[in-house]
Amino acid sequence: MDLYCVMGNPVEHSKSPWIHARFAELTGQALRYEKRLVPPGGFAQAVRAFRAEGGKGCNVTVPFKFDSPAIATRLTPRARLAQASNTLRFDAGEVLGDNTDGIGLVCDIQRNAGIELRGRDVLLVGAGGAAAGVLGPLLEAGPRRIVIANRTVDKAQALVRRHAAPASEHGAELAACDLSQVPGRFDVLVNATAASMSGSGVPVAASVLKPGALALDMMYGPAAQGFLAWAGENGAAGRDGLGMLVEQAAEAFLVWRGVRPASSQVLAELRATLA
Ligand code: ATR
Repeated sequence: MDLYCVMGNPVEHSKSPWIHARFAELTGQALRYEKRLVPPGGFAQAVRAFRAEGGKGCNVTVPFKFDSPAIATRLTPRARLAQASNTLRFDAGEVLGDNTDGIGLVCDIQRNAGIELRGRDVLLVGAGGAAAGVLGPLLEAGPRRIVIANRTVDKAQALVRRHAAPASEHGAELAACDLSQVPGRFDVLVNATAASMSGSGVPVAASVLKPGALALDMMYGPAAQGFLAWAGENGAAGRDGLGMLVEQAAEAFLVWRGVRPASSQVLAELRATLA
């Protein structure tokens, strides 16, 4: 059986083994998917050991997504743009590094939440690794504009500079601002900050939301509850990051196995399991 894993630290609570086991069942693919706790500084060694064991590929999560491109011998354009990789595939003589977080987010917004991004105004809150990982695919979806709001404006401006070419290619306006000076109102808000985790609340004013906007936090479970309550209190449709988690996994599965599983079904099952 082909062997895959998720490498991270911590990794104990990862839902990925469950998700990939369901994908394997639903697509009739014979594979095993495990969790690997990797010590700080031990990522390259862990990948070498896993390949030596016969591993065919791995997902990479916190804190190693930024170490992952250095391991790859070939990067997909979206991984290069993100400067981070959540999916490695071990081929004969090659390690492909990909990043499926952004396409996972876009799939969740468009297919599962039913919001077409083309022509929309999108506010991306945060300019760290999570935001960088999704900006390229968000631009590819053809929104009218994306504003990146961040506590440290310099980081948002750097992301704008790095994405100038895809923004122009897809005809999207791209701008950066401070959290307290968000210009205008938005159809879709994506919270890619760690603010929910630290319990410090939603870092932008509710006035940035158009009525009925989609407000999505990349967190899920208890960490997303404050954000979801804020969205509901302010007339938005709140959404957590569980759909993005399942969809990025489905895209990784596609990269490894050449088949895309029924991700919406698995998302519904996972929600039911966690409820
Ligand atoms: P990740 O890989 O999860 O994106 P990161 O690269 O450390 O982690 O980025 C964390 C993001 O959350 C950043 O945008 C950070 O803002 P700064 O760039 O100003 O540090 C943002 N963030 C973290 N805590 C926050 C808070 N309490 N309020 C607002 N933004 C916060």
